[in-house]
Amino acid sequence: MSFLATSDKLAHWNGLLANFGYLVSVILFILAIMRMGRVKTARSGNTMAAVAMLLAVVSSFVEMGQIDPTWIIVGLVIGSAVGAIMAKRVQMTQMPEMVALLNGFGGLSSTFVGLATYFSLAEAGRRGTLGAMMEQAGQGGWFGGINLGLTIIVGSVTFTGSMIAFLKLSEKMSGKPILLPGRHVLNGLLLIVPLALAVGTVWFVSAPWLIATMLIAATLLTFALGVTLVIPIGGGDMPVVISLLNSYSGIAGALAGFTIGEPVLVVSGSLVGASGIILTMIMCKAMNRSLANVIFGGFGATDSAAGGGGKSEYKNVKSADAETAAMLMADAQSMIIVPGYGMAVAQAQHAIRELAKILEAKGCNVRYAVHPVAGRMPGHMNVLLAEANVPYEQLFEMDQINEDFKNTDVVLVIGANDTVNPAAKTDKTSPLYGMPVLNVEEAKAVFTIKRSLGSGFAGVKNELFECPNNYMVYGDARKVVEEVIKALKEA
Ligand code: TAP
Repeated sequence: MSFLATSDKLAHWNGLLANFGYLVSVILFILAIMRMGRVKTARSGNTMAAVAMLLAVVSSFVEMGQIDPTWIIVGLVIGSAVGAIMAKRVQMTQMPEMVALLNGFGGLSSTFVGLATYFSLAEAGRRGTLGAMMEQAGQGGWFGGINLGLTIIVGSVTFTGSMIAFLKLSEKMSGKPILLPGRHVLNGLLLIVPLALAVGTVWFVSAPWLIATMLIAATLLTFALGVTLVIPIGGGDMPVVISLLNSYSGIAGALAGFTIGEPVLVVSGSLVGASGIILTMIMCKAMNRSLANVIFGGFGATDSAAGGGGKSEYKNVKSADAETAAMLMADAQSMIIVPGYGMAVAQAQHAIRELAKILEAKGCNVRYAVHPVAGRMPGHMNVLLAEANVPYEQLFEMDQINEDFKNTDVVLVIGANDTVNPAAKTDKTSPLYGMPVLNVEEAKAVFTIKRSLGSGFAGVKNELFECPNNYMVYGDARKVVEEVIKALKEA
């Protein structure tokens, strides 16, 4: 009797302690997201989120009381080691692929939580429909059952969708849209059938083997849905898809939280779900596309029809060497630097910063124009420029600076391509048509540094290269900028 009392007391204190831990971790998650909104505080925000996650896991241990934590600790150690090695090894340009993998595994773990919840109920001797089993276990009755089904469905779509996005981004699979005949009907069926199976388990089916079969069938069908949803989406829209899948992984996590009655998972999953959707909308706006158009439009399917792919012949392209570019820059009163993916590949940000300092010392007003989808991930350029200590006040978003190009002496386009393609404004046949771009061609002179006339991510011809005021400076971005710096120092 006295043992029970002690054990009840312990459970009570454990519960209180765990709730306090959950509360602190939720507050830390919210503060972390706020800090991630600014380059300067993003790093500490990331650490804060990691601490919050660890605190949430430890609080769960405390709440559960006497459990054997061996497997959980083994999982934590292996997972942390794999994560640390991957994060150390990954190049900045491969970050979206890494995010895709992480989203996918997040989704898969939610699927496992859903399936494991059912199997542990069955193992504990609960019987009847899934709704009845959840009722007997005090896990929300039919509401818990529906959540369990949705956890499996959303988690599975997120997993395979993210894997396809990963394969497309890492070029292990073609970035071109794969348009299956009747794909909208197929997708509809692959969504409706698993939903019907999930509903069936909650209210209509009570044989344990049948419930298990239906849940596994729903899992496999939604695995297929993830594939068929993402293969028709072209490489150019992958950033939006990654962000959307990030949101799905959060929603799957929140649903898993409802399923197992874990409030901190509900809150953290909702935060990821909401921030992912907000980022998705921001990116759609930056590309002037609706979300429905991204998902159902098969962007890039018309590349070859539009003569894209960068294979079209260019006419009257002018080129210049680094010395000529240096001469013009030396006299410029104003210069806008437009970074793109090539700057990231060449790691030219430090050289760019040095060039800007030299020109500023000569009295030139140097600014940077950052397109929202320049590079390969949101904020890619901001991170690199911040790493090179470019003052934050010199960075301008597209909307803030686009009107100023016409009053600018020199524009230096460094490794950017799609984001400065005027065809996006004028050529209705271009797959980029409608995407807001930087008006670089309006400046007095433009120097475009890249290695060739090759196309950018969207695989289309760039009309900027034929503009009379544009000069191509061929070569690796960092080497060319270093040559410009050398020429300026020797002048
Ligand atoms: P892109 O259009 O991708 O063009 C980058 C250019 O960099 C290429 O044409 C390439 O030309 C050049 N380049 C590569 N390595 C270089 C090097 N070492 N030195 C100099 N130049 C080099 O770049 P962007 O303007 O930044 O546009 C981004 C594109 O990626 C958009 O289509 C966007 O939708 C897509 N995207 C964006 C994201 C996000 S969220 N930012 C994520 C995924 C995809 P050469 O081969 O001739 O050198």
